[in-house]
Amino acid sequence: MPSPTADAPPPALRLVDIGVRFGGIAALDRVSLRVSPGEICGLIGANGAGKTTLFDVISGLRIPDSGQVEIAGRTVTGWSPHRRARAGLRRTFQRVQVFGWLTVEENLLVAHEWRRGGGGVLADLVGSPTRRRREVQLRERAAEVLEECGIAELRHRQAAALPIGTARLVELARALMDQPSLLLLDEPASGLDHGEAARFADVVAEVRDRHGTAVLLVEHDVGFVLRRCDRVVVLHLGQVLAEGSPEAVRDNPAVRDAYLGTAVPG
Ligand SMILES: Nc1ncnc2c1ncn2[C@@H]1O[C@H](COP(=O)(O)OP(=O)(O)O)[C@@H](O)[C@H]1O
Ligand SMILES: [Mg+2]
Repeated sequence: MPSPTADAPPPALRLVDIGVRFGGIAALDRVSLRVSPGEICGLIGANGAGKTTLFDVISGLRIPDSGQVEIAGRTVTGWSPHRRARAGLRRTFQRVQVFGWLTVEENLLVAHEWRRGGGGVLADLVGSPTRRRREVQLRERAAEVLEECGIAELRHRQAAALPIGTARLVELARALMDQPSLLLLDEPASGLDHGEAARFADVVAEVRDRHGTAVLLVEHDVGFVLRRCDRVVVLHLGQVLAEGSPEAVRDNPAVRDAYLGTAVPG
């Protein structure tokens, strides 16, 4: 008998018993988690908990010593970052990485071309009719994504001139060009003021609502995570200490003892 969930889509991300050791230290110890399509999942934990190592394992910058990584039902454990990108994964980095000398639109086009291994925007400009058509499509896609991110009017602005809150939206837009199924965000609110962080979170939520994108975000700002995530995973000394709804995690005594202390943000 097929189970009622037989046709359910596979998790956007599934980690099974991930282990990473650095010398004698277990940076990650049997870490398992899953993120469903359309879910915004927050990953928190004190310094040294293993958050960055876990992101590196998911994105393919580090191959784990043990365990398995699955993206949208495919086992990708040994795959390169590039191959994972083609399987639907995108990430942003903790430090803003826009190309300052390019316009906002060019930032989107260039990253796309690099991923495709194509000849670049310049080659398109002087190239064949096919390339010209491709370029038109790319510019249309860029316009669409910039609109979704609420920065359409900045299309021709030089990226270097943008405040950090806007630069983070450009990075997000760049990550969305190929409509990823899974988006990893590394401390997206870092360096942003309250209003900028709220705007960023609104855009992420809208993208999720519209496209069913799964989001896993590492964030230092626990208040941001508790307010804006559907589910929260707490890492502690390389292990999953707790996971659940923001409320459950906030009220979990073990989490309070190990991590949140007594001053829990609302
Ligand atoms: N390249 C490395 N070499 C040795 N130890 C590392 C390396 N990267 C991380 N670690 C150790 O692994 C543990 C987890 O680190 P990390 O993933 O950076 O945690 P977090 O991002 O949560 O602060 C820490 O004990 C850290 O010192
Ligand atoms: Mg880190």
